[in-house]
Amino acid sequence: MKEIVSFLKPYQSIWQNEIMLLYPQSFDNFNPEWLDEINQIEDMELLLQLEKKLHQNVVKGKSLYDFYEGVENLTRFPASPQLPEMPENKYSWLYIIPKKKHEIKQLGPLISHFYHQNQIERMIDIGGGIGLLSQTVSNAYQIKITSVDMDGKLQETGRKRHEKNAQGLEKVEFKQIKVSKDEPSFLAELNSKRMTVGLHTCGPLAVSQIQASVAQKVKTVINLGCCYLKLNDGDDQNLSEFAKIDPLHMNPYALTLACGPHRKVSLDSVAFKRSVKYYRYSLHALLIDKYQRDDILVFGNSSDKVYDGSFAQYVRGQFEKVGLAVTQADEELQSFYEEKFPIVKKMYAAGFIRDALSRLLEVYLLLDRAIYLEENNYQVEILEVFDENISPRNLAIIAHLRG
Ligand SMILES: C[S@@+](CC[C@H](N)C(=O)[O-])C[C@H]1O[C@@H](n2cnc3c(N)ncnc32)[C@H](O)[C@@H]1O
Repeated sequence: MKEIVSFLKPYQSIWQNEIMLLYPQSFDNFNPEWLDEINQIEDMELLLQLEKKLHQNVVKGKSLYDFYEGVENLTRFPASPQLPEMPENKYSWLYIIPKKKHEIKQLGPLISHFYHQNQIERMIDIGGGIGLLSQTVSNAYQIKITSVDMDGKLQETGRKRHEKNAQGLEKVEFKQIKVSKDEPSFLAELNSKRMTVGLHTCGPLAVSQIQASVAQKVKTVINLGCCYLKLNDGDDQNLSEFAKIDPLHMNPYALTLACGPHRKVSLDSVAFKRSVKYYRYSLHALLIDKYQRDDILVFGNSSDKVYDGSFAQYVRGQFEKVGLAVTQADEELQSFYEEKFPIVKKMYAAGFIRDALSRLLEVYLLLDRAIYLEENNYQVEILEVFDENISPRNLAIIAHLRG
């Protein structure tokens, strides 16, 4: 944790700010040699590798190479232990998408292992939604599970599915409850013979699971977070006393960065993302340089086809969305784009350096949660439980109450 804080601090102005919003001071905080090196990469295949943070065959300069290595070394975690595969049958994967199947296949054996090892009497699935994890694990291992979620509709869908495919005697209980450390009906579900499991507990839900589990002395806690952007500004960060000594505070831009990539990257997606950024950054520069409008930031979604057309067409479409009149001819807009292109291209290069910090920010948030559990008498480990290419939010905090 200390090493991560020391690593991140010098780059604070990079991770706290979006590249675009720094314009026209976009590069003040960046090492110019690093920017030059990335800016010179034209080969899409190499850009794809860099996007995947596979810097080894791409980066040549020593200090940029060390930067990438530093991030990698600080974000490496052990994989799940090898356990016997989860028993399955023809109902196990009914209507389950491959990503969720992978997650359940990986988590199921871990859950069963700790359930039996710690003589747990009931698992509480936190934000269980339809309850796919609960249903599959209950069918496979016949363990007692309550799936809690505040969305009654999702639970109803889950209940119906479960009616059809429940195997054996154990049925999943669905309870519509708000998960919060201040919600008595939720706290009543927790005790020292129970375990809480939260698969992709978005934003503050992860924090609520952990804090309520600690308060009720839950025996085992398994938590995987996601959607850090939804964290509330104040209390949801720096939970541990240790983090509070020398805290990093992440603003919404940093929290968005911590959410890292959502989709699998491919050559096509890298090329598309680059076209989007070239146009978007140029539009922002145009608004500032020619219209003195640095306040217009949100234009909503555009169709993919927009990026096949000219910059002038793109500008007209975006201006129309926000009710702004374009005062230049198409030719002028096109020459503005060409004139700005070297800067915009460099802004794109700077994005790689900023993106490289995303996993480190995520790990900071997770380590803080893990240390908070340690400070409250839990023995904690963080394991990489999913294949990152299938499910990028793949770090599980696993904690057992001591004694
Ligand atoms: C990202 S989904 C994950 C669903 C499921 N665990 C999975 O992995 O497929 C998060 C779920 O948490 C639920 N949720 C979010 N905040 C909650 C809260 N405070 N109390 C109860 N449920 C909550 C949402 O309704 C949603 O179903």
